[in-house]
Amino acid sequence: MKSLELKKISYSYGKKEILKDIDYKFFEGELVGILGANGSGKSTLLKIIMGFLNRVSGDILLNKKSTDEYSRREFARKVAFITQSSNQDVNFTVLETLKLGRVPHIKNFFKGLDLKDESLVQEIVDLLKLEDFLERDIKTLSGGEFQRVLLGRAFIQEGEVLLLDEPTSALDINYSLEFLELLKDRVIQKKLIGIIVIHDINLASIFCDKIIFIKDGEISFEGRPKDVIKSKILEEVYNFKPVILEADNEIYVLPKRRIR
Ligand SMILES: Nc1ncnc2c1ncn2[C@@H]1O[C@H](COP(=O)(O)OP(=O)(O)OP(=O)(O)O)[C@@H](O)[C@H]1O
Ligand SMILES: [Mg+2]
Repeated sequence: MKSLELKKISYSYGKKEILKDIDYKFFEGELVGILGANGSGKSTLLKIIMGFLNRVSGDILLNKKSTDEYSRREFARKVAFITQSSNQDVNFTVLETLKLGRVPHIKNFFKGLDLKDESLVQEIVDLLKLEDFLERDIKTLSGGEFQRVLLGRAFIQEGEVLLLDEPTSALDINYSLEFLELLKDRVIQKKLIGIIVIHDINLASIFCDKIIFIKDGEISFEGRPKDVIKSKILEEVYNFKPVILEADNEIYVLPKRRIR
């Protein structure tokens, strides 16, 4: 059974405390949404899991072993990350970008991909309908197309943990749904640990098995969407009074103009 466990994770940027004593255990086959106001520390938490930040206190256990004990390469085979900032300075084609997902697995980098790698790439190209884009420079893609390529690369990396930071923020409603359907399917089928930072409460409610709300550096609420997407909780987390609609046994949070 795969697992990812955060134990008493605390972090400060200089004197500013961002996260304190975060304890949480993620399980395979589950998509967990991390929600909270802008600047609450969601991206920071993902960066900590990735090992990008220094002087983090606490422990992170991946499959019961501290992430400090993994080599960079071993870690890269296990964990895939889709960042929030999508600025790309390199001139890769879509196909090259996808193939980069195999790098942590390749024994001899100069020999390139073997047949098995190539067929995995093709499988994901078909799954994400990327065939027509393969020779395009990734810089020329639209925001939504680019996100799909990043998801493809993460699938091709075949990690056990998928970390995604607002992957659907640039997508229209149809592509957001498609993206999350593909992600959710993959998490279930491959028994992955899925962790997604997402602002859209309704999408989180539909796709996430569990939700974590971060506020003031702590997990202020956590649980199944049905149990935590509640008026009082949202009011506390976001400082706004939500309008909540219940339909088809689901809860929807609606925007409403506050000042006329
Ligand atoms: N390198 C840095 N140096 C100083 N402060 C930083 C740095 N990076 C982030 N911060 C601050 O840490 C806090 C948490 O940032 P973080 O990016 O984790 O927020 P977030 O929850 O992801 O927000 P958003 O929803 O806007 O993406 C913010 O107040 C931010 O300004
Ligand atoms: Mg962020």
